Order: sequence, then structure tokens, then C-alpha cells
Amino acid sequence: MQASTVRSPIATITGLGSYLPARKLTNGDLEAMVDTSDEWIVERTGIHERRLAAPEQATSDLAVEAASLALADAGVTAGDLDLIIVATATPDHLFPSTACLVQKALGARQIPAMDVSAACTGFIYALAVAEGAIAAGRAETVLVVGAETLSRITDYQDRKTCVLFGDGAGAVVVRRASSPDHGILSVFLGADGAGADILKLPAGGSRLPASTGTVSERLHFIHMDGQEVFKFAVGAMIRSVRESLKSAGLTPSGIDLLVPHQANARIVDAAVRLLRLPGGKVFHTIEDYGNMSSASVPVSLDAARRQGRLVRGAVTVMVAFGAGMTYGGAVVRWDAPRQRQGDQEI
Ligand code: COA
Repeated sequence: MQASTVRSPIATITGLGSYLPARKLTNGDLEAMVDTSDEWIVERTGIHERRLAAPEQATSDLAVEAASLALADAGVTAGDLDLIIVATATPDHLFPSTACLVQKALGARQIPAMDVSAACTGFIYALAVAEGAIAAGRAETVLVVGAETLSRITDYQDRKTCVLFGDGAGAVVVRRASSPDHGILSVFLGADGAGADILKLPAGGSRLPASTGTVSERLHFIHMDGQEVFKFAVGAMIRSVRESLKSAGLTPSGIDLLVPHQANARIVDAAVRLLRLPGGKVFHTIEDYGNMSSASVPVSLDAARRQGRLVRGAVTVMVAFGAGMTYGGAVVRWDAPRQRQGDQEI
């Protein structure tokens, strides 16, 4: 999916929105649930708290909240959309797709709607699909959502995983670029199926359908070899940043802001050190939200914009890795046609 030569942007991000459920799960709360401590969690992961969806909220409900904000931000209506893509590892159902539920809730036309399954890299994969649809002339305005209710597949008896994950949703509106140098400059995607076993939801699919046995063996929760994922993640992040920058004709010194998948502060720190990026150029939300899988990048992007970090012209690199194992990065020269308070031009 890489361009061999640097090209003008085909698509651009014109609107952003995010939604975080109100309920917080703090490290103190987890201390009462498993044998852990605030000190261990903060030191090993950087996480202080995460958000949990209300019992009646499913992934599509979070997605719709974020999507509505992104549409308003872009100044478009649901009726303007040509395609809806939802990246999620926690769909409402195996089928129909969460994107179809979002289409209905938003009141969009009978446009194509589909989910993308690339775990925590899902938002970057979905962005690539959106860009490809615009490049192919199949769409002009695409809604891309990363939404998760990871609390529904997290085992709150397993201290090795339950401290990491939270719920949330982020959305962007992607439209055809109108500027020759602002917009999505490149997207890089990769996957290594040899690592499929180190992070997975073992049961509930065709390999291991739900049974009383799978429930009693807790196989409907996330299973993870944390150290193996950690090792993979650092290399995958570095490769994704370098390859996406290369396609955009840039080097790490050209980055104004890095918005990484928020899996573990130590993973991000290690990659950033090896990329020789100044810490001030790296955006974090992990302290407050933990790992929200495909929602981490768009939620962080929206938070960065609220903090005035997405100034017009800023080169922003989004990068992620996840189960699969998947990885990918996208380079955007920020376009802010609808300037808001706090946006500046560089
Ligand atoms: N509280 C206290 N102790 C814990 C703990 C917790 N929540 N979780 C694990 N431990 C213990 C382990 O049992 C182990 O104890 P032992 O030495 O007595 O066996 C010790 O801490 C060290 O475990 P280890 O797995 O080596 O810790 P770590 O430094 O690798 O940190 C992770 C564990 C999960 C935080 C880390 O490996 C990680 O973040 N991996 C990547 C996970 C990830 O990003 N997943 C999502 C990808 S999208």
C-alpha cells in the first residue's frame, strides 16, 4: 500500500471527535480486585486510570457519540457520507458489522458500511481503506471510527492484562484533499501472522465456539504473552514510523507530533528513544485512558487538537501495533480548513 514516489495527498482529515464513558476504573480500584499495586501499574505501564462503558453501552453506542462530534467538526451531515468504516476488536456482534449499526443510528444513506479487523492497528488500517476508496473514486466523504469496549473481554481476575485496557471511541471524517501539500501524506501497513498466538481472544470464533467449557476456562477474555508483545511492539513501531515517513519523503527529524498507540508508556519511550525523537514531540493519553485498542490513536489525536497541538502545517505521525500481529503508521500534514480557537499556522 506504499507509494513508490512522494505524491500529493489524495485525502485529508477534516473533522475529529472522541467519546470517553464517564465511569473511571482507577489503579486503586484494581488493587481491590487483583494482587497489584498503584506503584507497580504506574511504573510498568504509565497508566493511572481507564474508562469503562456503562452496562447498557455497546461499542456502536460509543462509536456513534464520537462520530456525531466528528461530523459536526467537519461541518458535514450523516447524509453527506459515502462510506462508513469502523475499526474494532470488540464489535457489538460477530455480525452484522458495527459499522451497519452506526450507519442506522446516524441516519446515513444506504452507503457501504463495514468493520475492519486489525486489532489495535485498526484505525490506521481503516484510514488506509478510506484513502484508497477516495483514490479509486468510490467515495468523497468517509467516516472512520475506532471504537472499543475492551472491558467486555478483559479478565478482571488476571492481573497481567486487566490493568491495561479501557473503553472509548474516536472518529475522523476523511475527504478528498484540496491542497497539494496538506492532508494524508502516506500510510504504511504491515502484519506478521507468525505472532498470531501471542495476543488473542481464544474462544467465540469458528476455531473454538462458545461452550460451557470455554466459559469456565475463561477463554472469552484477552490472553496475552506480555513480554513477547512488548518486544514485537517496539520494533514494529520503529519500522512503521520510518516506512511511513520514507513514503512521505521525510525523516524522523521532520516530525512535529507523534501520536502513538497507547499500549504501554515504556513501549512508546523505548521506540522514541531509538528514533531519537525529543519527548516533547510525543503525545500521551495513556495515563488517563489506558489502552483502548483501535480507539487509542483517534482519541489521542482529538485530545492533541483540543490542546492546540495540531497546528496547521504540523507533520503528525500516527503509529500503532496490535494483535495479528499487525502494525502501521500514517503521516499527515495537518490541514485545518475549519480553524478553531487554539489552531495556529506554522
Ligand atoms: N501487578 C503486580 N505484579 C504483576 C502484575 C500486576 N498487574 N502483572 C504482572 N505482575 C508480575 C508478574 O507476575 C511477574 O511476577 P514474577 O516475576 O513473580 O513472575 C512480574 O510482575 C514481572 O512480570 P512481567 O510480565 O515480566 O512484567 P513486565 O514488565 O513485562 O510488564 C506488561 C507486564 C504486561 C505490563 C508488559 O509486558 C506489557 O505492557 N507488554 C505489552 C502488552 C501490550 O501492549 N498489549 C497490548 C498490545 S496492543
